[in-house]
Amino acid sequence: MSGERLRIALTKGRLQDQSVELFQAMGLDCTPIQNPGRRLIHSVPNYPLDAVLAKAPDVITYVEHGVCSLGIVGKDTILEQGRSFYEVLDLGFGKCRFALAVKEGADFYGTYKTRRIATKYPNVARTFFEGKGMDVSIIKIEGSVELAPILDLADAIVDIVETGATLKANGLTPIEDVAQVSARLIVNIAGMKLHKEAIDDFISRCERELERRS
Ligand code: PRP
Repeated sequence: MSGERLRIALTKGRLQDQSVELFQAMGLDCTPIQNPGRRLIHSVPNYPLDAVLAKAPDVITYVEHGVCSLGIVGKDTILEQGRSFYEVLDLGFGKCRFALAVKEGADFYGTYKTRRIATKYPNVARTFFEGKGMDVSIIKIEGSVELAPILDLADAIVDIVETGATLKANGLTPIEDVAQVSARLIVNIAGMKLHKEAIDDFISRCERELERRS
């Protein structure tokens, strides 16, 4: 261990809980992160790491700008945002998928009309349909995307599916997988060289725990 303090941005919410579980298993004392109150930055008492709690797209912003050397964020956000950083580890939790879904019984491909696609992830949807050479009209929705086909705003949605319960409860069915999603460890590009010793130590501790889990 180099003694130099690293800063890691964690995605608030479910990924935060699973990140903390991983850190605890790596021997890091995460008591302060588990009892955060309204504080957004927490120090790990027994390892030179400070954790910043942020929304997923902001995790990428902080890591890209180098104010955090490390980040934990879902592949969904990475695919949507692009941007510049190293994606070094698949952490194996936060697993779900992007799927194309339609109203049960709908024949999505059986028409030449331009299909309307509702999604919170317009870049993911655009890339998917470009790969098929299909011209679609993308409608950006901020949440509860399942409403769009029900209200006849869209012919299909591209959205995160975890258990499939939300699609089912709303009369929708997945017809194609778009991409697999899980939590990733990302690293600032310059930081990888500047803080090499500290970052290597953190990554190898992560890897050891992931190997133990597999
Ligand atoms: C996500 C996603 C689906 C749901 C999928 O929504 O957009 O709606 O979870 O999970 P399931 O397959 O287990 O049912 P989220 O809870 O993030 O809410 P939002 O759509 O309002 O953003």
